[in-house]
Amino acid sequence: MAKLGLMAMVAVALALVATAAILARAKTDDPEKVDAWFSRLSHAKRKTTRLHFYFHDTPSGKSPTAVRVAKAAMTKKSSTTFGAVTIIDDPLTEGPEPESPLLGRAQGFYGNVGLESMALLMSMNLVFTSPKFNGSTLSILGRNPILETYREMPIVGGTGVFRLASGIATAKTYFFNSTTGDAVVEYNLIYMHY
Ligand SMILES: *[C@@H]1O[C@H](CO)[C@@H](O)[C@H](O)[C@H]1NC(C)=O
Ligand SMILES: *[C@@H]1O[C@H](CO)[C@@H](O)[C@H](O)[C@H]1NC(C)=O
Repeated sequence: MAKLGLMAMVAVALALVATAAILARAKTDDPEKVDAWFSRLSHAKRKTTRLHFYFHDTPSGKSPTAVRVAKAAMTKKSSTTFGAVTIIDDPLTEGPEPESPLLGRAQGFYGNVGLESMALLMSMNLVFTSPKFNGSTLSILGRNPILETYREMPIVGGTGVFRLASGIATAKTYFFNSTTGDAVVEYNLIYMHY
């Protein structure tokens, strides 16, 4: 009984150390620490992480999270809204409902870059605030043809616990209101990092 109690205490202590190591990375390291981390890379094990969340893009209402900041002066109305640029600070949640637990936010912008095709250029940082990944980010830069069922976008980098991230994000529209432009998009991420 006493032995079991001791083992449980050791397990808890190890878990706390592991958690502290993850949380410690939430604060940005100074350049020497980054250098030391980089120098140890050749011995580091590459990790694979999968994430699943819902992205809430809300251009409408009293507190929009997506605001159009530029619009092209076209002589003829563009069916693809070519030339528009929208800045976003969109919540990322565990489930599709807006009140579902917040995991982080997507901060960046998208531009309507298709003259004839409905395509967005996505340039955004996923800024995680959930306890496990708090302060870490992932950067996505890719083409998002929003009318297609699945859109694949590259994960081009990361910071914090996601340093040197490289992988794939797959987006699928879960809900879209064509009157307001409000959308909920399901994201599945798979990526390697150190
Ligand atoms: C995340 O980090 C920020 C800044 O370091 C801190 O204020 C906040 O309490 C942390 N949140 C969680 C859930 O750990
Ligand atoms: C879309 O938004 C409009 C305006 O708020 C609302 O009247 C309509 O019910 C919404 N449609 C859906 C499918 O939610």
